[in-house]
Amino acid sequence: MKKAKQTAEAVPATAPIKIKIGGKEREFDIDNPVLPDWIEDNKLTAGGYPYDKKMKSEDYEKELERLQIELVKAQAWLQTTGKRVMALFEGRDAAGKGGTIFVLRQYMNPRTARNVALTKPTPTEAGQWYYQRYVDHFPTSGEFVTFDRSWYNRAGVEPVMGFCTPEQHEKFLDETPHFERMICNEGIHFFKFWLNIGRETQLERFHDRRWSPLKNWKFSPMDIAGISKWDDYTKARDKMIERTHKEFSPWIIVRANDKRRARLAVIQRILLSLPYDGRDLDAIGKPDKKIIGEGPGFLK
Ligand code: ADP
Ligand code: AMP
Ligand code: MLT
Repeated sequence: MKKAKQTAEAVPATAPIKIKIGGKEREFDIDNPVLPDWIEDNKLTAGGYPYDKKMKSEDYEKELERLQIELVKAQAWLQTTGKRVMALFEGRDAAGKGGTIFVLRQYMNPRTARNVALTKPTPTEAGQWYYQRYVDHFPTSGEFVTFDRSWYNRAGVEPVMGFCTPEQHEKFLDETPHFERMICNEGIHFFKFWLNIGRETQLERFHDRRWSPLKNWKFSPMDIAGISKWDDYTKARDKMIERTHKEFSPWIIVRANDKRRARLAVIQRILLSLPYDGRDLDAIGKPDKKIIGEGPGFLK
């Protein structure tokens, strides 16, 4: 196979993984450059996705540009008013957090629009108050700050992979609403997005990352380890959303099998929540209720 030459040396070969999906036993071998049909055929519709076609590229590009123009206006408003925005992005591996953050910030002045993507805690950080290293990156006047993953690691990857104790997990679920209450009382415009993808969607993206020389940097051993932990991540997600979805800090759920529709929905949601000067509601358009919603009820 021609494509096989593109294998990244950094990724060690892995054994094929057996998984049960849609009532069928399947074998997934990420080192095989050919994507199986059962993944290809379901990558968009997996998990009950409401569309069977991706949004057309031309429609997406046009709408994205209209929204990005609005984001530039919103940023100017942040500058003149000194208001602060903080938006965190959560979702399974390969949910599309990075790409969504990319288009959000694409035309913003990078001096006042920052992204925060922290690595695993250093020994010093591990000895601090759990939220402390995140607080360090909170916005100052006029800033627009995105988080690619966040303190919610303690409700997802950490309990699922055994990086925290069950007691720490519980404490986190109890305390986080109080922590976020303070963020909101402080007057920060605070958003938390859960990008939701189906199982075949995730496998297709892992496969893509494994074989694409441009996306290979995104592919981590955590992704491989997570493939067979799908159900554990589902349980952790449901518990997290159940316990931390509050009126003042709602979980905004975005069905994200189609990256295009997901990105537009996220930007619309942010723009509709910020009362910036010159806001053009026609340009923003109406949110797609099949794609974006709030809280546990929207996850079926
Ligand atoms: P990403 O999906 O963000 O590119 P990974 O899938 O490699 O990165 O890791 C997912 C998350 O798990 C990251 O936020 C990372 O910091 C966290 N993580 C990885 N190892 C540990 C660990 N030993 N303890 C705590 N957190 C960890
Ligand atoms: P993914 O989430 O896999 O689509 O990849 C996200 C990455 O793709 C980002 O980090 C960017 O480097 C790039 N990217 C995403 N959207 C765009 C876009 N509209 N134009 C250019 N690059 C993009
Ligand atoms: C994503 O694409 O969802 C994130 O940027 C990376 C990941 O968690 O795999």
